[in-house]
Amino acid sequence: MVEAAPGAIPSPNIWNTPQIYEQENKAVDPDGVLAAAMRSIRPWDGQTVLDIGCGTGFHLPFFAETATRVIGAEPHAGLASAARRRCAGLPNVTVRTAAAQALPVPDSSVDVVHARWAYFFGPGCEPGLREIARVLRHGGTAFIIDNDATRTTFGRWFRTWLPKYDPASVERFWVRQGFSRESLTIRWSFPDRGTLERVLKIEFPADLAARFLAETDGTEVDYGINLWHRTFR
Ligand SMILES: C[S@@+](CC[C@H](N)C(=O)[O-])C[C@H]1O[C@@H](n2cnc3c(N)ncnc32)[C@H](O)[C@@H]1O
Repeated sequence: MVEAAPGAIPSPNIWNTPQIYEQENKAVDPDGVLAAAMRSIRPWDGQTVLDIGCGTGFHLPFFAETATRVIGAEPHAGLASAARRRCAGLPNVTVRTAAAQALPVPDSSVDVVHARWAYFFGPGCEPGLREIARVLRHGGTAFIIDNDATRTTFGRWFRTWLPKYDPASVERFWVRQGFSRESLTIRWSFPDRGTLERVLKIEFPADLAARFLAETDGTEVDYGINLWHRTFR
């Protein structure tokens, strides 16, 4: 049985196959579009960053390069341990086994929150948003990274898989919550087609993964992202 903090949403891709998810993370956004967009909205140099749903901690070293302090929160105990191992040599990083709905972080102690493809998927994530509002300092910024299913190859695949997914209602949710959107296009760029195939198989049912692989030439996929952000005052 999986050991996870209460409120954890099963995430089969990274829970079952963290090694393949690592290959996926390596393929995401080789041009640094997301990092540049976040930096231009709110830099985190010398500040405290909280990465909610940090998984195996792939993004923690990146934030730790310039942040004073980085906290990873991850409800899956095994993944939180992997994140601790990854950051063992980074004295400014700590990882807590915790879910977004109950962050073991004091009030008003964080400058920047980052949550990437984790828990904050629209309606239903209000308890986590209340926690973000609690832990952020006055003037702190939250970044939520999620798919834009309305465009790009990946967006088309996502809607083929989940035809009932309603991007407009998700967008209305974030606007009601006071978030603004940066619409970004990134690339998945794989070293070879075998890696692309393995990643497609952890993200989609087998029949769709095979279909999407067959309709893709080469090792690149264009991918629409919504970078939602809000500065809390
Ligand atoms: C698709 S993975 C993304 C991991 C990481 N953000 C990354 O980009 O590498 C989603 C993560 O969200 C975590 N998660 C699930 N439920 C959560 C919750 N209630 N609060 C915070 N994180 C959660 C999962 O355990 C998983 O590690």
